[in-house]
Amino acid sequence: MPDRRIVVATHNAGKLREFAEILADADTRAISAGELGLAAPEETGQTLEENALIKARLAAQRSGLPAIADDSGLFVDALDGAPGVHSANWSETPKGRDHRKAMHRLWRMLERTGACEPWSARFRTVICLAHPNGDFEFFKGSVEGRIIWPMRGYGGFGYDPIFQPDGFDRTFAQMDNVEKNQISHRAVALGKFKAACLGN
Ligand code: IMP
Repeated sequence: MPDRRIVVATHNAGKLREFAEILADADTRAISAGELGLAAPEETGQTLEENALIKARLAAQRSGLPAIADDSGLFVDALDGAPGVHSANWSETPKGRDHRKAMHRLWRMLERTGACEPWSARFRTVICLAHPNGDFEFFKGSVEGRIIWPMRGYGGFGYDPIFQPDGFDRTFAQMDNVEKNQISHRAVALGKFKAACLGN
């Protein structure tokens, strides 16, 4: 059992699994915010950086352990970068998150622009590592690709069924976790995090 522990400040099971798989390679145990009974703070930032910092800083303060949080978003060029930092908000419903609704909204807006294919887009992620003493650092990653319609695939989470990374003819939702973890925006950011902090 690894003795290094990092709190992963997310309540998203898909992201927690991805973080845990990547951190396991660095002999570090990922502890979820849920395991520690930490509530999710309001994401009031105007940028991915601000939101990642809000989440990581709170988890580090409450747990007394280093904490990482990421904030991610899908940025579509023809929509001037929307949904971007609001990617999660677009999926909110009174019954919880519904990404099919968010993807349909994205598609309706894209159709209205009349923009021609390929609809270039990128996933961006910012990871914040926060320490209980208040220090923090950012690690960033992105993956270029395009929007696909109609949705394809059943794997992954979030906007995966409509995002096809460059160099592939399948969406993220048509890939397994191992393949996605090799190229995803979060994997790029986590790779930088591991290289800088964990000596990998
Ligand atoms: P958050 O950073 O967890 O708040 O995520 C922001 C939004 O981007 C949410 O709607 C997520 O579902 C979505 N998202 C983040 N990472 C991914 C991904 O790897 N694939 C698909 N959607 C993602």
